[in-house]
Amino acid sequence: MAKGKSTVYFCQNCGYESAKWMGQCPGCHEWNTFVEEIVDKSAPVKIKKAASEAQVAKLTEIKADQEDRIGTGMPELDRVLGGGIVKGSLVLVGGDPGIGKSTLLLQVCRNLSLRECNILYISGEESLQQIKIRAQRIGEFGASLSLLCETNLDTIREVINRMKPQVVIIDSIQTMYNESVSSAPGSVSQIRETTGILMQIAKGSGISIFIVGHVTKDGVVAGPRVLEHMVDTVLYFEGDRHAAYRILRGVKNRFGSTNEIGVFEMCEDGLKEVENPSEFMLNGRPEDASGSVVACSMEGTRPILLEIQALVCHSNFGMPRRTAAGTDYNRVNLLMAVLEKRLGMSLGSCDAYINIAGGIRMNEPAIDLGLVLAIVSSYKEMPIDSKTICFGEVGLSGEVRAVSMAAQRVQEARKLGFNCCIIPEVCRENIKEVSGIRLVGVRNVQDAVRYILSAGRE
Ligand code: TYD
Ligand code: MG
Repeated sequence: MAKGKSTVYFCQNCGYESAKWMGQCPGCHEWNTFVEEIVDKSAPVKIKKAASEAQVAKLTEIKADQEDRIGTGMPELDRVLGGGIVKGSLVLVGGDPGIGKSTLLLQVCRNLSLRECNILYISGEESLQQIKIRAQRIGEFGASLSLLCETNLDTIREVINRMKPQVVIIDSIQTMYNESVSSAPGSVSQIRETTGILMQIAKGSGISIFIVGHVTKDGVVAGPRVLEHMVDTVLYFEGDRHAAYRILRGVKNRFGSTNEIGVFEMCEDGLKEVENPSEFMLNGRPEDASGSVVACSMEGTRPILLEIQALVCHSNFGMPRRTAAGTDYNRVNLLMAVLEKRLGMSLGSCDAYINIAGGIRMNEPAIDLGLVLAIVSSYKEMPIDSKTICFGEVGLSGEVRAVSMAAQRVQEARKLGFNCCIIPEVCRENIKEVSGIRLVGVRNVQDAVRYILSAGRE
């Protein structure tokens, strides 16, 4: 091997560095994540700024413009970004292949180019013709959008310095490479290095950069976790590839609240925003079917109503089967244990299949009560009134605990024409009367189950 070069091993999951290969990573305890990479120690070291040049500033004297955000022309995306693109920010967009990352960003390009915002789209995956074909499906573009097919970061840096765009899109970080790092594009050191350079460009010249990142089969952005630490905002594009809608979820955001979601629908001519996700999620709900109940989950600042379905049936084998699609499997098992213990339901001999309709993933504890009622409804073959919604966290002793922003959830239910809300008693005490909707406060799962059984008999 050439002088100055050495072999090191990196964990693909967390970026842990080791001189020898290991089966399990000591950093994140994942198995078989180490890959070999050659690092060039003789590569020129970046010149450090002299310590005397370092500038110290008083917080009170720094001027910050509130208006340093660029609207993307897509309110759903703006919401997830925290109100638009922040100048000089680095945004990572991750998601499964074919979910629509390139389409989303090309639509951002379209909207910005129509407003004569200088924008540069760099693709390492598609040719100019392919981008053109995609663009034709999306619609009319303005003249201020430039395209570049390039994977060499030095060239990219030069083009950016020459063009001085306001927004740059890098379609995908895994295809980019820096000559001074000898490992292949997509490897841990390349991704780390190229993201570092992009960060310097973004912070140094106030250019906002969107980076597309591929995800591994576990659903995290390929490459080390350091990538997520380096960027300002991490957005994940998720959703079932077979279903039409897509959810853009903010996982990290230095300039806004996280956990905001934006809902889109994939159409013939690109992604369309879904303005009222609750209505969308409840589409096609069965009337008077047992095991179906509507719950409410807060996604960031927005309440979303969703249908929880449960199918509980007698198990033909000694080992009951349980599945949970769209929510946490362990949580479902825990809630079933609570029902078994507190309500004396013999679920131990039952198969249970739980599904959040529409393929959306929801993990907020506030849907616990919905899960519980769906299971009870299916077990007892007792449909729950279709104009009833419920929310509340369920504890191990069967108590129903308060959840945040109860009033907003009730308002959302009222807006969509529901007339009864089963909510934690603590929340009911705090909410004033809401016209047109009946609030049922419950202290524990026994109360809730008693209520739906009596309402079902009426
Ligand atoms: P794409 O943006 O290429 O995904 P990614 O960059 O995340 O890999 O998404 C492509 C998918 O979207 C592809 O399956 C075709 C579909 N699509 C539409 O349905 N309508 C459209 O207008 C476009 C551009 C793509
Ligand atoms: Mg793509």
